[in-house]
Amino acid sequence: ILKMTELDLAGKRVLIRQDLNVPVKDGVVTSDARIRASLPTIKAALKQGAKVMIMSHLGRPTEGETAAELSLLPVVNYLKEKTDLNVRLSTDYLDGVDVKDGEVVVLENVRFNVGESKDDETLAKKYAALCDIYVMDAFGTAHRAQASTHSVGVFAPVACGGPLLVGELDALGKALHNPKRPLVAIVGGSKVSTKLTVLDALSKIADQLIVGGGISNTFIAARGYNVGRSLHEANLIPEAKRLMDSLDIPETVDVRVGKHFNESEPAVIKDVSEVQDDEEIMDYGPQTAENVAAILKGAKTILWNGPCGVFEFDNFAKGTEVVARAIAASDAFSIAGGGDTLAAIDKWNLSDQISYISTGGGAFLEFVEGKELPAVAMLEARAAK
Ligand code: 3PG
Repeated sequence: ILKMTELDLAGKRVLIRQDLNVPVKDGVVTSDARIRASLPTIKAALKQGAKVMIMSHLGRPTEGETAAELSLLPVVNYLKEKTDLNVRLSTDYLDGVDVKDGEVVVLENVRFNVGESKDDETLAKKYAALCDIYVMDAFGTAHRAQASTHSVGVFAPVACGGPLLVGELDALGKALHNPKRPLVAIVGGSKVSTKLTVLDALSKIADQLIVGGGISNTFIAARGYNVGRSLHEANLIPEAKRLMDSLDIPETVDVRVGKHFNESEPAVIKDVSEVQDDEEIMDYGPQTAENVAAILKGAKTILWNGPCGVFEFDNFAKGTEVVARAIAASDAFSIAGGGDTLAAIDKWNLSDQISYISTGGGAFLEFVEGKELPAVAMLEARAAK
């Protein structure tokens, strides 16, 4: 694909699609990882003398939140407070934006525009008319074929990949396509059903696959143990068995259980065979966590998605903490992705010790699954012309 860094941006109207879809509470950004990751692109464009417009979505307006709750204003306020950028929000931009030299104009949430999510061509042409160069830099939204991520790039005079998008593709490609081995993949999170295609894809390329969180409960059930009231998916037991037959998945030998899903619930450590009907598995036990850490220690490449327990509750955070620290301490090329995974890394301040942290959630998973990302396919098609 054509890269932004290969272009002369001086004096050009540059429209950058970023993923500034960050959590906001009471009008304040509560996790700025995606904004921080996007800043180098904005600064590079400004340095070259571009007239910079930024566009992004925030949330899903069809899911009941009000326009005020989904405004990008908190992101603009963050940029005003935490950076030295001269930035303003534009709410009325579809017929043209007057960008002053050195200024950054953030265009209000693209999902407020009719046709955005349907990849509408009329809307995409309006976006395209705003710029001389369209920069797709939203790796986290590259799996969406929407007007601001896909068709705009078909109609813009020039379309290229931004440094963040290019960096993500390079780092993930390095881990997946030609990894230093052993490649150890660790997949946690709540449900097998949402991660089945990822587990399947990883089972083909990883030397070792480790499961954690609610996902491992289904594997425990597949081994014939009682999982009590634990989150698990009985209908996916055959899939779990199939995965266990096809490769070596380390067994959960002990667990931390509680009787209530509650912050103050004490954790009781048990052998995996001793879980009672009224108990819920909420974390690895210490021996299991230690076994997993030992495997991670021998890895040359590590791919991590999904926490290994209910890490939001301190009593059930230990398994995820041991895993996070083992990855941080490892010399392997380590990649982590997904919102919960990043929250776990932040909880123990380990982000500097992970080789690469992806800004993608769904996009990260789809890339790992080997799916084509529509925004990247569009850039490839344009580069091929
Ligand atoms: C994400 O948070 O994964 C991306 O910003 C995409 O958001 P979406 O799932 O609402 O398209």
